[in-house]
Amino acid sequence: MSTVGKAGLEDVVVSTSDICFIDGREGRLLYRGFDIDDLVEQSSFEEVVFLLWQGHLPTRKELDAHVKAIRATANRKLPPKMIAILRALPRKTTPMEVVRTGVSALSAFDPDAADNSRDASIRKAMRVTAQLPTLVAAWERIRRGKAPIAPNPKLSTAANFLYMMTGKKPTPLAEQTFDVALTLHADHEFNASTFAARVTAATLSDLHSAIVAAIGALKGPLHGGANEQVMLMVEKIGSPERAESFIKKALAEKARIMGFGHRVYRVEDPRAKHLRRLASELGQQVGDMSAVRILDTVGREVTAEKKIYPNVDLYSGAAYAAMGIPTDQFTPIFAMSRVAGWIAHVLEQHANNRLIRPRSEYTGPTRATYVPIEQR
Ligand code: SDX
Repeated sequence: MSTVGKAGLEDVVVSTSDICFIDGREGRLLYRGFDIDDLVEQSSFEEVVFLLWQGHLPTRKELDAHVKAIRATANRKLPPKMIAILRALPRKTTPMEVVRTGVSALSAFDPDAADNSRDASIRKAMRVTAQLPTLVAAWERIRRGKAPIAPNPKLSTAANFLYMMTGKKPTPLAEQTFDVALTLHADHEFNASTFAARVTAATLSDLHSAIVAAIGALKGPLHGGANEQVMLMVEKIGSPERAESFIKKALAEKARIMGFGHRVYRVEDPRAKHLRRLASELGQQVGDMSAVRILDTVGREVTAEKKIYPNVDLYSGAAYAAMGIPTDQFTPIFAMSRVAGWIAHVLEQHANNRLIRPRSEYTGPTRATYVPIEQR
């Protein structure tokens, strides 16, 4: 048996994969070999979904068919009984609890739920990826005492989500910004939630179960939940003038600053620069740059003091807040995008599977003698 690796499986390579490459030293991120900077400039989230699942960029004909399917009401709509399930939940249920519960419930209505064949998995993949934004937006409306807004098949995934959240079609800048944010969050190698999906898929469990496992992992503040915590920090700081004293105090108290550091990147996360640009463009459009200015000051101090860098979660919330999205919806938005990556990894795991079952080095007592309770 090999020796125990570093805590948290740090630097442990568990298997090969063709889906995503991260260069932690150079700060590079590739989806199926394509640099994230090129995909942000030239692609779209819907095309990136195709790329992740199929392993190549689509032809015009393939893309048209894929976009038609991912926007189709038949794939986007929630089963009517799902709305009744959502209405039965306490209004205080957090959006991430609704995402976890909702995806689990969706499997009960999915005709292919128990079929792990690639064709059935692609059909389920299309449905779950198309339904997640509808689920997130429906809860936003229900918890505010409003009726959910039906999806609009004429709108892109990005525009349709913002429309279902607010009832208004987004500006072209808001749609483009949100589309880029979805592209940036779509996959990231064997991060905690993706690995949770692969471990579940490796038991030959179904796609919905693997996604629910991933959602549970993403929810944690050390992972996808960090973007929400960053904005709570920004709200606590209140103004750019107070940022420097706040962060100096937090660092002196050895606090963990959300939005910074990464298990793989040793330099700035290549996604952060795009999200900072989006947050700045939207902040200028709405006439409020305070969140970006606060985060810039925090970033300067944290990097100078701790030599750790911004990650994907630092500026994403500032962009979403500028679009009027509530803070506790930031991690559900992360899930709406990352579901594309989770699915790509489940497809890859199922295509060449072996049960994932590591060992532990036992450090407990051996040969303990059982003592009857009367003598304890
Ligand atoms: C995501 O893995 C992925 O790919 C994830 C992700 C994806 O796309 O799927 O990129 C998305 O989850 C991004 C990360 C979001 N999380 C946060 O922003 C939470 C804050 N970040 C940290 O908790 C931390 O940086 C982690 C969890 C992200 C990574 O931590 P590691 O690799 O376990 O490192 P560590 O906690 O052992 O810290 C190493 C050192 C420590 O110093 P010492 O105690 O050894 O002196 O760096 C310090 C830590 O104190 N450190 C931090 C810090 N991150 C690391 N100190 C203050 N604030 C931080 N954020």
